[in-house]
Amino acid sequence: MSTIKVYPDRERLAEAAAQHIVAQARAAIAERQRFTIVLSGGSTPQPVYARLAQGGLADSIDWACVHVFWSDERCVPPDHPDSNYRMASEAWLKHVPIPPDNIRRMKGEMAPAAAAAEYEGLLRAFFAASAKEGKPLAPRFDLVLLGMGEDGHTASLFPGAEALRETRHWVAAYKVPALDAWRITLTPVVINAASQVTFLVAGAEKARRLQEVLYGPYHPERLPAQIIRPPRGRLLWLVDEAAARWQ
Ligand code: 6PG
Repeated sequence: MSTIKVYPDRERLAEAAAQHIVAQARAAIAERQRFTIVLSGGSTPQPVYARLAQGGLADSIDWACVHVFWSDERCVPPDHPDSNYRMASEAWLKHVPIPPDNIRRMKGEMAPAAAAAEYEGLLRAFFAASAKEGKPLAPRFDLVLLGMGEDGHTASLFPGAEALRETRHWVAAYKVPALDAWRITLTPVVINAASQVTFLVAGAEKARRLQEVLYGPYHPERLPAQIIRPPRGRLLWLVDEAAARWQ
């Protein structure tokens, strides 16, 4: 079951997304004194992160309770212009009083396979610490933010990627043929364990693919965004009118 909300333009999409994230954070913190959020990379979330660093919203969250992770990362150093960590840090994280230890980045500067293994270990330790006695270990993030590429990829789950079929590991690293570049990514089993997944999609160039992903035949090998269907979580699409042109 997914919900789609359409906004007139990118600016109002960003505002709505920021408000949505704050609402989720405040509810999670009120209930469990903790909010775990997975950040997407790419360009669409950048204004959302910048909005979260501004006055009213930034002051409305108990940052000591917020724990930040990433859905994927480019295999570059953290200060590289392509780094998803750098983008979120510059736009948002370095402007709010979140404890540095609460920011858990994927180490793009490491050898990819080692970085993926390290991140998986970090996730397993993080969720084991709060696992309920006798309950299976599950990476149940409160909120996972995702984007969608023009080819229907999400996180760094690209069409045909082996990681799409990974059911044991929580993090994978591989060379993306279409980019001729290495990526680290959460696998579908982790993303689908979330309490809530929110896609942020904007731009006319995404419209046709978005329509295919939402209403076309289920073909996740070709349209990886379709594999994101959290069985025990909410799936929300926040899109602008340009990306929802078909409606
Ligand atoms: C990345 C992202 C990727 C992104 C889409 C959409 O590392 O690039 O995780 O999945 O969300 O490619 O990117 P835009 O928001 O720039 O269109």
